[in-house]
Amino acid sequence: MERLDKLIAACGAASRREVKTLVKQGRVCVDGIFAAAADMKVDENTAVITVDGVALKYEKFIYVLLHKPAGVLTATEDKRQATVLDLLPEEYRKRGIAPVGRLDKDTEGLLLLTDDGELAHRFLSPKYHVDKVYYARVEGTPDEADQAAFAAGMALSDFTCLPAELTLLGEGECLVTVREGKFHQVKRMLASRGKPVTYLKRLSMGPLQLDEDLEAGKWRLLESEEVLALQTVCGLASYDKAVKK
Ligand code: URA
Repeated sequence: MERLDKLIAACGAASRREVKTLVKQGRVCVDGIFAAAADMKVDENTAVITVDGVALKYEKFIYVLLHKPAGVLTATEDKRQATVLDLLPEEYRKRGIAPVGRLDKDTEGLLLLTDDGELAHRFLSPKYHVDKVYYARVEGTPDEADQAAFAAGMALSDFTCLPAELTLLGEGECLVTVREGKFHQVKRMLASRGKPVTYLKRLSMGPLQLDEDLEAGKWRLLESEEVLALQTVCGLASYDKAVKK
């Protein structure tokens, strides 16, 4: 059971304070009956909540695909600098949405954010084999020797990487596929081969692809098939049904 004002606010339909007014004005119904109070408890799995006759769609969790632009931090808050949460509606922050993994400040591309902590945890674990694909522009030209070094599992100063894939794209560019997400990993791997990165963009994470027409700084909610695909790679495919019961 959940508070009515919290559920309505989580849908982004009104703030909690506004819900109080809406209820007083008789504009909110729960299962066809005028809501008695903003803080009344309702069953979030079954209740049909309407505001001015329009049914709200409550999702237990939200999943946001953001095209992270360069220049913003992958963090939930920062005193001085803009974070990825500043690019999303305030209601999502209130729900406790957080980035799944991080991209460096100057890295662009696909960033998943959710308030589904279990899925986020699993998605980042190498155990679930979620490949991340990056497009990199580098100094120099990646070659077959670099490819072999990536495939062998490269030793950096403080850890040895899992085998990774390097796809050659010609002079000054390549694709890198990694399963882990250690700090500055892709930049460090390429730098250790004498090919420092000048531009980095994440194109995909497991089944999620960055849309070509989603501009940097823009976001969208995942489609239900995409959520199911995420749950499937993380061994949580029946999880959504379980938590909703
Ligand atoms: N690897 C990096 O070096 N930077 C990123 O932002 C992501 C992966």
